[in-house]
Amino acid sequence: MIDIGATIWFTGLSGAGKTTISTEVAKTLRQRGLKVEILDGDIVRQNLTRDLGFSRADRDENIRRIGFVANLLTRNGVVVLVSAISPYRDVRQEVRQKIGSSFIEVYVNASLASCEDRDVKGLYKRARQGEIKFFTGIDDPYEPPLKAEVECLTDQEDIEQSVTKVIEQFDILCSNAAVSSACL
Ligand code: ADX
Repeated sequence: MIDIGATIWFTGLSGAGKTTISTEVAKTLRQRGLKVEILDGDIVRQNLTRDLGFSRADRDENIRRIGFVANLLTRNGVVVLVSAISPYRDVRQEVRQKIGSSFIEVYVNASLASCEDRDVKGLYKRARQGEIKFFTGIDDPYEPPLKAEVECLTDQEDIEQSVTKVIEQFDILCSNAAVSSACL
């Protein structure tokens, strides 16, 4: 079996379900024997991008660095699962263009109301109280994708349904890649 490299990029509000879905997708792909790496916003920010905050410039820089690493891994046959709010369309598009046909964008779409309701990390409450400024969805923008390959409606579907959608799209990418490598 050839190693198929790809970047599956999960974008959406904090608490929408990006980490949950990407963790399950990783399990499924590892069971298939694929090499998988996860680049999760919270973890990347403790390591690769510790120096960055949440201004637009810093968020864009965060996404560019993640995109750079994702591209290297993708070229080397790894399936990279990126889970970052990545609120700005332009820089998501920039990363998509660098990675090319091996890029899948997944819009993890949950309403602000439900993210805020769940408030797993307690950050929405703090943002509403003004303790955290420029919080995405509260007083900072989120630009939803216009043409994501996959949209997971996490208010309406369960994790399994969301994971299935992502895997189906990954399988399409693999069959396209197999066709083009057969044509070389
Ligand atoms: S991104 O905007 O640069 O893509 P990223 O996904 O890396 O964001 O990090 C988001 C995480 O940082 C959130 O899930 C939350 O835990 C934390 N966080 C802290 N401050 C903010 C903020 N102002 N806006 C959004 N997330 C924040």
